[in-house]
Amino acid sequence: MTIGYFNGEFISTDDSVIPIDERGHQFGDGVYEVIRTYNGIPFKLEEHLDRLEMSMKAIQLPQSANTEREHLRFIIYQGIEKSQLQNADVYIQITRGIATRQHLFPNVPASVSMTVRSSKFSANNIHDRVMTAMLHEDERWKNCYIKSLNLLPNILAKQTATDAGFGEAILIRDHYISEGTSSNVFIVKEETLYTPPLSHHILAGVTRKTILDLASSLSIPCEETEITPEDVKNADEVFITSTTLEVTPIIKVDDQMISHGQPGKITTKIFNSFLNEAKCTSTF
Ligand code: PDD
Repeated sequence: MTIGYFNGEFISTDDSVIPIDERGHQFGDGVYEVIRTYNGIPFKLEEHLDRLEMSMKAIQLPQSANTEREHLRFIIYQGIEKSQLQNADVYIQITRGIATRQHLFPNVPASVSMTVRSSKFSANNIHDRVMTAMLHEDERWKNCYIKSLNLLPNILAKQTATDAGFGEAILIRDHYISEGTSSNVFIVKEETLYTPPLSHHILAGVTRKTILDLASSLSIPCEETEITPEDVKNADEVFITSTTLEVTPIIKVDDQMISHGQPGKITTKIFNSFLNEAKCTSTF
């Protein structure tokens, strides 16, 4: 069952509980994480909590009792247990709290909200996961390493891609690929994996790091390097990664077919290893 949580109380996601003056609601003044559970266990929870702390620090949102790691861990586990879901997406959001609208930081406690819902993507067959992508200008700000609530350019790009018949938009900033609207991008060329290097222009994806580690253990050569839109179109294989999309093969970019419209060999190897790791790590 779907679970909601707001400032100390588990609620129904249909309840109206957010006060008008909540700063996430008015300014998008906050940060978030999405965590996937496998067999009821959150995958890479500490990595997500590390990034949440980093994002809070980056927007100068001070720690308070309700945002301490131990407390967040506690409510996440409670939410998962209440949901009774094995494969869930946990969305957790921290904002600068509730205060009469003004741009300056108010001196009030942070707000914490959370939802736990059944995962949308759980097909084990890679052929059921394929997606297409459209190249799109990256119109976001300069601090995309922060997992901020401000996602307007991301949703506009995703909607544009969807309206044009594609599944994801792959973003281009200053002639190079940055990332997807809610994913990191990898390409394969001559059996080597390439992904854009970490910078302020991309999110340091937890899944991205997991894939880099997996590639290393599978002895697949991998380079973190700038990728051009032409590199993507000329790639042997393309895939995107995220907590919710896991490893998703991209079989067409704009009008260019990739890998004959099939998930490639290396993508398939990585997809299988990723699911194996996610499911094994979460078995007690
Ligand atoms: N988004 N880049 C962006 C812009 C993202 O929003 C995400 C994830 C990623 C992948 O990060 P990770 O592997 O840690 O999930 C990269 C989440 C899933 C979302 O907004 O729903």
